Amino acid sequence: MSDLVSVETRENVRSIRWNRPEKKNALLREMYTAAAEAIESGEADKDVRVYILGGQPGLFTAGNDLVDFMEAPPHIGGEDTPPVERFMRALMTAKKPIIAEVDGIAIGIGTTLLMHCDLAYASENAIFKTPFADLALAPEFASSLLFPARLGRPAASDLLMLGSTWKAERAKEAGLITDVITSSQLVDQVFEKARILAKKSPGAVRAAKQLMMTPEEPLADRMNREGALFAAMLKSPEFAEAVGAFMERREPDFSKFG
Ligand code: COA
Repeated sequence: MSDLVSVETRENVRSIRWNRPEKKNALLREMYTAAAEAIESGEADKDVRVYILGGQPGLFTAGNDLVDFMEAPPHIGGEDTPPVERFMRALMTAKKPIIAEVDGIAIGIGTTLLMHCDLAYASENAIFKTPFADLALAPEFASSLLFPARLGRPAASDLLMLGSTWKAERAKEAGLITDVITSSQLVDQVFEKARILAKKSPGAVRAAKQLMMTPEEPLADRMNREGALFAAMLKSPEFAEAVGAFMERREPDFSKFG
C-alpha cells in the first residue's frame, strides 16, 4: 500500500490513480509497486472486471521520478525485476481491460504506457510527450516497436526522436488515444465506459483482448484461432445467457461469470 496511489473498486471497476500532485505525479518505485499490486490482485478477483488508470484533475503524470531514476537505475529484463518493470509487466499481461484516463501531462512512461492499455481517453488539456532524446535515454517497454506499428514511423519518430509535444487532438488523429472528452466530464464518462465494459460477457472481452494482444500472424492462422475460440464460446454458459436474454427480451446478466 502507498498513499501515493489510490485504489478504489466500485461497480466491478478498479480505479488506480497516481496521487503525488506536489511532484506532478512523478512516479516513484513505491508507486509502481502499489499499482502493480492493484492489477495483480485484480486479476485474481472475480469482482474486478475493468481497470481505470488515471491521476487527479488536470494531472496524469510527469513520468518517472528523475531523482529516483538516478538513485536506483532500473535494469529492465535484468536479473531482478525493478518495480517499474513489475508494473509494466502487470499492465502488459493483464487479461482484463485497462482504460487510461489522461487529464493534463502524460510525459515519458505516461505516454509509453498508453500502448499497453485497451482504451485511452484524454481531456482537451492533455499533453503527450516522450522526451527520451532530450534526456539521453532510449525508448522503453517495446515502444520502439509499438509506436511505429500503431502510429506509423513518421509519427513515432516525431514522438520518440524529436520529443514533440502532442495535444489531445493530435493524439487522437494519430491513434494514440481513443477519444477526447471535455475535462469536466472526463472522470464520469470514463467511469461510464468502464461500467459498460464491466457488464459485457467477461469471457468475450478477454477473448477479444487476448487476440488483439497477440503478435501478427498469417491471416489464415488468425482466422483458425478465432474460429476455435468462437466454437468453444458457442458452447459456453455465457453465450447461453446472451441468447436466453435475447429470447426473453431482457438485458443479459453476466454478473455470475468470472
Ligand atoms: N521527476 C522528479 N521530480 C519532478 C518530475 C520528475 N519527472 N517532474 C516534476 N517534478 C517536480 C519538480 O522538480 C518540482 O519539484 P519542487 O517543487 O520540489 O521543485 C515539482 O515536481 C513541480 O514541478 P515544476 O517543474 O515546478 O512544474 P511545472 O508545471 O513548471 O512543469 C513539468 C511541469 C512536468 C513540465 C516539468 O516538471 C518537467 O518537465 N518535468 C520532467 C518531465 C520528465 O522529463 N519526465 C521524465 C521522463 S523519463
